[in-house]
Order: sequence, then structure tokens, then C-alpha cells
Amino acid sequence: MNKSNKKLKLAIICSGGNSPGMNNAVIGFAKKCAQCNIDAYYFLWGYKGITNNDIHPCNLRYLEEFTNRGNTIIGSGRLPSFATDVNVRKKAVKNLKKNGIDCLLVVGGEGSYQGAYKLSQLGAKVIAIPATIDNDVNSTQYTIGFDTCLNQVSKLINDITDCFSSHDGINLIEIMGRACPDLTINTGIGSNIYMVTKYNILKTEDFIKIVKHCKSQGKRAINFVVTEKIYGTNNLPTLASIAKKIEATTGHMTRVTTIGYIQRGGTPSARDRLIANYLVDKAVDLAKQGVFNKAVGINNKQIVAIELKRAVTMKRKSHNRYLVNKFNKINLQ
Ligand code: ADP
Ligand code: F6P
Ligand code: MG
Repeated sequence: MNKSNKKLKLAIICSGGNSPGMNNAVIGFAKKCAQCNIDAYYFLWGYKGITNNDIHPCNLRYLEEFTNRGNTIIGSGRLPSFATDVNVRKKAVKNLKKNGIDCLLVVGGEGSYQGAYKLSQLGAKVIAIPATIDNDVNSTQYTIGFDTCLNQVSKLINDITDCFSSHDGINLIEIMGRACPDLTINTGIGSNIYMVTKYNILKTEDFIKIVKHCKSQGKRAINFVVTEKIYGTNNLPTLASIAKKIEATTGHMTRVTTIGYIQRGGTPSARDRLIANYLVDKAVDLAKQGVFNKAVGINNKQIVAIELKRAVTMKRKSHNRYLVNKFNKINLQ
């Protein structure tokens, strides 16, 4: 019940780059609301669905069929005009009011958090839940989807290594993650391969030096895992041109693999399913208590909630740079 003793009415959206585990957040939401006698709704396609009033009641028996399906059955979306045009956001607030939504749960990444905060500034009540493969939400140490994505990438790198070991070859593997190096670092450490991130951008000569060093020690496949959007921008050569030079200089077959969207799909891992349920449980509890405009997240393995305003302005605390240097040195042994 809300303060006026009316049954509480909550809605959820998935927003931004979709990620595995979003379905589990939606299903967890529908279950928790059913348990707490709260009316549960979702809008399709993120902020776009709110502005188009594309609202639907949660049908628990239907939604739970998607427990082991990747990403999100209610659709996610990017709506650039939501960021730039206050009238688009006002329309969303109007639709939330019209539908009597007491609080909107926004499941998404950093951009979606900004959108949620701006909705709250227009009077809507919101709670943000972190979900993106990039792990780039500064107010939490973990985002739903990261673990599944990391496992996808690690599995693909196993397969690439099988292939390149058989050719004595070199592979420059570009993975997603936006500006955030977390996926690259966790892949590099877990798979024992050299990582290239914004913290340690290599020149072509550096790649060649590492290849020569590893080959002199008898290493067969040599992989580099590289964060996307570094090479081919900011006056840096493309990975394809670097690969050509490595091959010309060392005589070893050198190729580029861009992993792309395969890494963003897939059956959600047990960890992502669990965390999605814990985070949504916390968010609904907050709404039940009449506590809004919060960002839920994970800090030192605890589920926490902080002011959304603080969440969207926080800087990231990170030891990433240290890890890159430390494990790259180990991987060169
Ligand atoms: P993610 O949430 O995964 O980081 P985006 O950065 O694409 O994905 O953001 C998702 C959506 O959130 C955007 O399409 C836009 O509708 C909204 N959004 C992003 N940035 C802002 C902003 N600064 N202000 C308001 N809305 C924003
Ligand atoms: O934010 C998730 C992500 O997959 C990033 O890793 C990547 O840079 C981006 O989305 C791709 O964006 P789009 O889905 O618009 O191609
Ligand atoms: Mg993002």
C-alpha cells in the first residue's frame, strides 16, 4: 500500500545496451510484486515505451518462461531524444502519472541512470538497477550481464586459441566494453593473455616486440585482447593495419577477430540470475517503504542503495591500471 492506502503500482523498464540477466530482473520483479500484493507493469523498449505509453501488466506465468533466455523479452532501447529534449522526458512523466505508477524501476547502464535521474528531477519516482555487459556504472562494483559476457568471451577465446595454436599464429581480439576496460582485464587475467586497454595503448612496434619475445620462448598461439574503440580512432592505426605489419615483420600468420554482438547475448549465468534477483528484491523493498530516487548496487559483496543524485555524479574507484600492468608482466613470462 502507498501512503493513501491505495495498492502500490510499480513499473519496470530495461534500457540501453541490453544484457543477459535483464530477463531475470523482470521476472524477479514480477514475482516479488505478486508476493507483496503490488500491481506490477512493464513498458516495452525502455524510455521509448514510456513516451509511447506502451505499458503492459506483468503476466508472471508468461514471463517466467524466459528465465534461462538471454537479454530481455520486454525489449531494451536507446532513445537519444530523451537525453536532449526535456519535452520527451515530460511526456514520459505524464504517462507515468496517467497510469498511476508509484515508482519506475530502470534496469540499465550509466546512460539509463542519467535518464532516470532526469525523470526524478521532473517529479517521477524512480529506482535504478545496474545492468550492462560493460560494468561501467560508477556507483556499483557489478552490473547484471557482466559475468555472462565474460564467460562468452572466455569461451570464444578458447576456440580461437585452438585455431591459432594449429597455425603458430597471432590474433588481435577486439572485444566490447565501451570505454570501460573491465571485460578486457578480466578476460586477460582469466585466460592468461596479454591485454590492451586505454591504460596501456601499444604502438605497432610494441606488439611486434611482444610477439618476438613470446615466439623466442616457443609460444604457439599469441593472443592479445583489446578493448574496442581504441584502435582506428584518435589517430591510432586500425588493428587490421597493425596485424599486417606484425605478419610482415615476424612471418607469422596474424589476424584480427572482432567478437561483436555474440558477447552480448547468451543464456544468463547463475551469477547474473542471482544478482538480478537480489537487486530487484532490494528495489521493490525500497519502493514498499516509500523510499525512492535511489540507485541499488553492489559494494563489497553487499547489496546497497544510495541516492540516485550521488550515483550519477560518482567517479569510479578502481585498481584497474595496476592489474593491467601486473598481469601483463606475468603473462609475458
Ligand atoms: P546504457 O544505459 O547501457 O549506458 P545508453 O548510454 O545508450 O545505454 O543510454 C540509454 C538511454 O538512456 C539513452 O538512449 C537515452 O534515452 C537515456 N540517456 C542516456 N544519457 C542520458 C542523459 N544524459 N540524460 C537523459 N537521458 C539519457
Ligand atoms: O553498452 C553495451 C555495448 O554492447 C557496448 O559494449 C558497445 O560499445 C555498445 O553497446 C554497442 O552499441 P550498439 O548496441 O548501439 O551497437
Ligand atoms: Mg553504457
